[in-house]
Amino acid sequence: MKVKFVLNGVERDFEVKAGEYLLDTLRKHNILSVKKGCDASSCGVCTVLKNGKPVLSCSILTARCEGLSITTVEGEKAEVEKFYSYFGAEGADQCGFCNPATALTVIAMKRELKNPSESAIRQYMVGNLCRCSGYVAQNKAILNYLEDQS
Ligand code: FES
Ligand code: FES
Repeated sequence: MKVKFVLNGVERDFEVKAGEYLLDTLRKHNILSVKKGCDASSCGVCTVLKNGKPVLSCSILTARCEGLSITTVEGEKAEVEKFYSYFGAEGADQCGFCNPATALTVIAMKRELKNPSESAIRQYMVGNLCRCSGYVAQNKAILNYLEDQS
């Protein structure tokens, strides 16, 4: 079946199977920044923005994306690089596997929440797991980014 949606600002046509998930469609089309982790809606590394909101691409059928706007880090390069500079400054970089999903979630949060408290930030990030860290440096980097950009 054919599905049409806007991917990173460009309207695209995709030929997909009926039960195909967005994660697989994106990776099949070389959007490899979107990672496959648990493939079961638990880890968050497959996060993309659907009409600006973070969603798990492993749990959304591509057929349900008709007419929507889907954004990955490739579509948010300037803001993602800005966010990564805060990660670097706090020494929060580790293997990087979860970084694209984390960046997209934080960018969406910045646009959605005004001056969020630390607990509101943690709540927003609760679905984004990182196997490498204890989150301390990551959380500090996220706070600094949100404070400096608000
Ligand atoms: S791969 Fe989607 S939540 Fe883990
Ligand atoms: S930095 Fe390795 S999984 Fe997060």
